[in-house]
Amino acid sequence: MILAESEGAGSREPEVGDSRAPAPMVVPTSNPAAPAPGSPSPAPGISFDPPSADLFASDPIQRATSLEDVAALIAGCRRCKLCDGRTRTVPGEGLATARLVVIGEGPGRTEDETGRPFVGRAGELLTKILEAIALPRDQVFICNIVKCRPPENRLPQYDEIAACLPFLYRQIELVKPTVILAMGGTAAQSLLNTKQSLGALRNQVHRFRGIPVIVTYHPAALLRNPNWKRPTWDDVRIAARLLDG
Ligand code: URA
Ligand code: URA
Repeated sequence: MILAESEGAGSREPEVGDSRAPAPMVVPTSNPAAPAPGSPSPAPGISFDPPSADLFASDPIQRATSLEDVAALIAGCRRCKLCDGRTRTVPGEGLATARLVVIGEGPGRTEDETGRPFVGRAGELLTKILEAIALPRDQVFICNIVKCRPPENRLPQYDEIAACLPFLYRQIELVKPTVILAMGGTAAQSLLNTKQSLGALRNQVHRFRGIPVIVTYHPAALLRNPNWKRPTWDDVRIAARLLDG
């Protein structure tokens, strides 16, 4: 079953045990992308500023000058053990000048078979979420923390994430998005270099090299727990507002 296949980290992120009070929810209005009058702005969160490209100019990843270059390097990558089990690499896809970059965890079965991100059931839900803020899927850039499928859709391990992150960093440098949407605990924690739970990271505007990062649930988690749709909707509207602003 594809749903079970793509659940991955969703079930592992503890929503319990987070002692922080949730920030106030944004109240929906008739125009979903418009700010609710008087709606609270999320507080600033983590700022993570890994060194930028030219410090590592001898690295082929840093020398890649297009998303296609990066994808070609990923296609030949043997930096971690995930390469042994992959059918195809899944570098990511979308608009090279996208204002929104969406980051998930890693390829599931359908993604591994097709080489495309978010094409299983979770991907269909992601497409609907983007449509809800008037962003057609082909107007954003969609990718994952790891570019090869972990066996049995287990969580990507620390060494695999560390090996793969330079590709993501370079993709972000090339796209230069206005906003980043990190979906699920693995995406949020890896991008922001933190162990804080998804529940703790939501409802803040974090920064990756200065670019605002909004954290929300993973679409696969929403398929399992519809109660998370409403908070996801709130998060995505915050991202839309930052895009408009
Ligand atoms: N599909 C992806 O490409 N990434 C995920 O994280 C889940 C499904
Ligand atoms: N935990 C996750 O890792 N992702 C979700 O979307 C929800 C809980």
